[in-house]
Amino acid sequence: MRIDLLLSLASSLLVVNGQVINRCELAKILHKEHMDGFEGYTLNEWLCLAFVESNFNISKVHENADGSYDYGIFQINSHFWCNDYKSHSENFCHMDCKDILDRNLISAMQCAKKIVSGSSGMKNWVQWILHCSGRPLSHWMTGCRVE
Ligand SMILES: *[C@@H]1O[C@H](CO)[C@@H](O)[C@H](O)[C@H]1NC(C)=O
Repeated sequence: MRIDLLLSLASSLLVVNGQVINRCELAKILHKEHMDGFEGYTLNEWLCLAFVESNFNISKVHENADGSYDYGIFQINSHFWCNDYKSHSENFCHMDCKDILDRNLISAMQCAKKIVSGSSGMKNWVQWILHCSGRPLSHWMTGCRVE
């Protein structure tokens, strides 16, 4: 594991900030909502995806060069998946982008399920391809108990 990843992982565990969710807390929520094994993706993979996309920041909003925005813990894009009423959206998840930022993560997980159900799975996320895909990921669940 790269030292910069390790350091930001450590700090994300220490942050007491409404916006940033603790790694094991996130694992619990993902497990409860049956994300574990969904389309074959393990909790390790979901945690890696959330970390590389948002640093576990539930309320992260990022503007892209094309004018679309990415929302929440999985950085879900407004051109395709949700509607933020700022530019054209296909709105494949049939939801408001702001709901994806809800602290209970229900909409974020529901939309992420829709996205990974497509033929490219987690490869829909560029950061996943760059930092998670094909790497050893078992350390993401280290110290976490989900039940
Ligand atoms: C989380 O994301 C929000 C919105 O992008 C940002 O304002 C905030 O600073 C971020 N929090 C952390 C701890 O990075």
